[in-house]
Amino acid sequence: MDKIGIFTSGGDAPGMNACIRAAVRTCLFHHVVPFGIYRGYQGLIENEIEELNSRSVGNIVQRGGTILKSARSEEFFKKGPRERAFKNLKAHGIQGIVAIGGNGTFSGAKVFHEEFGIPVVGAPGTIDNDLFGTDFTIGFDSAVNTALDAIDKIRDTASSHDRIFFIEVMGRDSGYIAIYTGVGGGAEIILVPETLTSIEEVSDVLKRGWNRSKRSSIVVVAEGDEEGGSIEVSSKVKKLMGKMDYRISILGHIQRGGKPTAADRMLAGRLGIGAVEGLLYGRNCHMAGIMNNELKYTSFDDAINKKKPIHSDLLKMNEILSI
Ligand code: F6P
Repeated sequence: MDKIGIFTSGGDAPGMNACIRAAVRTCLFHHVVPFGIYRGYQGLIENEIEELNSRSVGNIVQRGGTILKSARSEEFFKKGPRERAFKNLKAHGIQGIVAIGGNGTFSGAKVFHEEFGIPVVGAPGTIDNDLFGTDFTIGFDSAVNTALDAIDKIRDTASSHDRIFFIEVMGRDSGYIAIYTGVGGGAEIILVPETLTSIEEVSDVLKRGWNRSKRSSIVVVAEGDEEGGSIEVSSKVKKLMGKMDYRISILGHIQRGGKPTAADRMLAGRLGIGAVEGLLYGRNCHMAGIMNNELKYTSFDDAINKKKPIHSDLLKMNEILSI
């Protein structure tokens, strides 16, 4: 293999640039020519492909977003556009792909490989930390720190006004961001899709806090909670509480931007190297991940379909810490 294509796809995540840089330089280290594919699968279909060199990825290790841009391509679900994508790869002589992204990215890669035989190795890039086969995904730590900074600030105003705040964090179907930001930010209550939410219990905890002279509270709500996001949850709680001075804050895409943390830069570097070397040593349809501080490869099937549980210790922590 002497030409490798690299792309980012799905929701961007801080650290993707550090991963691209690592992948490009690992290619060059092994005398392989790296190609950047812009806008993920969409750019592959539209032939937005160019050769990269060491300088193309200079001064990006500290930058959020992705220099290769990203997209969620609807067209790639269709056979015709996928054929065009393969022709474009062939025209450039690209023999393997490094795909940086999440669930959707790896599902697309698997189909693409099954149809055209091109080997693909993935690096997990998503703030959601929802992929099996890696303790953490690239971008998760940065997103948590961004959300935490916002929660600290909201706590100041919550405390000045004796208010309850319902703060919604991202994570799609996963509660990882909510657990880490909730525990780190000293939230009174954390609601995640991994455990059943009881609105009665939320209201009881808030009432008990009030009776113990707790005048302000933070409720972190994962966007995927089965009772709904912060708007739905707060209105259900209000029905039980009666009088309640509360505000809602949906942190949204701020969590996807900004400089990657040191932890994310290290992770991105290791996984960028791991993905390219995996391809060169014959891996295919696998994701590079770090488990217990060791580089491991997990099949796309497992990475996508196996549920990464949140350790029960983490789920129980807040019961103790918020009394
Ligand atoms: O997967 C990353 C993520 O930010 C999720 O947490 C969120 O649900 C989703 O992407 C938002 O996607 P979009 O940017 O397409 O609205």
